[in-house]
Amino acid sequence: MSKKIFSGVQPTGNLHLGNYIGAIKNFVDLQNNKDNSCIFCVVDLHAITVIQDPIELKNNIRETAAAFIASGIDPKNSIIFNQSLVPAHSEGSWILGCVARMGWLNRMTQFKEKAGKDKEKASVGLYIYPVLMASDILLYDATHVPVGDDQKQHLELCRDIAQKFNNEYKCKDFLTPPEPLIQKHFSRIMSLKNGTKKMSKSDIAEGSRINLTDTEDEIVKKIKKAKTDNDTLPGNEEGLKGRPEAENLIGIYSSLSNQNVADTLNEFGGKNFSDLKNKLSEIIVTKLSPISKEIKKLLSDKNYIDQILEDGAAKAEGISSKKVKKIKEIVGF
Ligand code: AMP
Ligand code: TRP
Repeated sequence: MSKKIFSGVQPTGNLHLGNYIGAIKNFVDLQNNKDNSCIFCVVDLHAITVIQDPIELKNNIRETAAAFIASGIDPKNSIIFNQSLVPAHSEGSWILGCVARMGWLNRMTQFKEKAGKDKEKASVGLYIYPVLMASDILLYDATHVPVGDDQKQHLELCRDIAQKFNNEYKCKDFLTPPEPLIQKHFSRIMSLKNGTKKMSKSDIAEGSRINLTDTEDEIVKKIKKAKTDNDTLPGNEEGLKGRPEAENLIGIYSSLSNQNVADTLNEFGGKNFSDLKNKLSEIIVTKLSPISKEIKKLLSDKNYIDQILEDGAAKAEGISSKKVKKIKEIVGF
């Protein structure tokens, strides 16, 4: 079945190995299936739900787009653009926000986590963030949305909004409730310093993550210093239980070498962490160095990146402005 894919990544800096394995690598695989049509959006409107430095934001928008392209998303096959260039996203968001219910948004765990204890001080944007996300998806009639498992609840909300809109306005099947595409394996890459914590751009420990822009030396050093335990590596998956650091390093190796965990454990069972770390550094360098070099090359020509985003935005606009026009007619404007 041909799939209409839409996904978004926030341009908030420090793209890392977790983003690559958990999201971008997956986008590339989806694009490479000729049956799919794909749209990948740099969601800058979502980024400002937390105040950003304007200069950094601009750089991060370009860097995220560069990371997409350097990883293998081809602007000739997929639409790549940043959200703020296409007004339909904001327009759609307002109308869909009038369909979404407070009770639904009040259940969103990401808001509760990000707002923290002092909810009164969180931005209104952070609260209605999932409505904008629904607008992103529904304006393109996306059928499948690749996301991390933390976004599952937002996709359920998107489905609820689509169904309520269709019911309230008696336009059966007009908005398409999308299916989430959540990776079964390697969907949570953990910190190199603590195997029970997700690898994250906001971790203050630089050694906890491999950035997509790290040099070979930095990669080798970080892997060398990655936390381990005192045992040799197990020969089967049962043996990974209660050993989060071993599980994480084995997972990263498996994902990058496109093999399953059982095969990796066959290779390293009974060996020391140092054996795994040598091979792991090698494969990370092999996979990420070309990406990192390409990101730097792309960023040295800002006009080129900006042109790709503008061309992508023109294509996105062509699709989404038509959908918003119909939405406006349906609601009575
Ligand atoms: P973020 O902007 O950090 O929320 O993440 C962008 C994308 O990368 C989302 O699809 C996340 O699910 C994915 N992602 C972020 N961190 C990780 C991680 N440590 N492991 C796997 N996927 C991740
Ligand atoms: N909320 C998503 C995240 O934080 C990013 C996002 C915005 C998105 N709009 C989207 C993802 C539409 C998929 C589809 O990761």
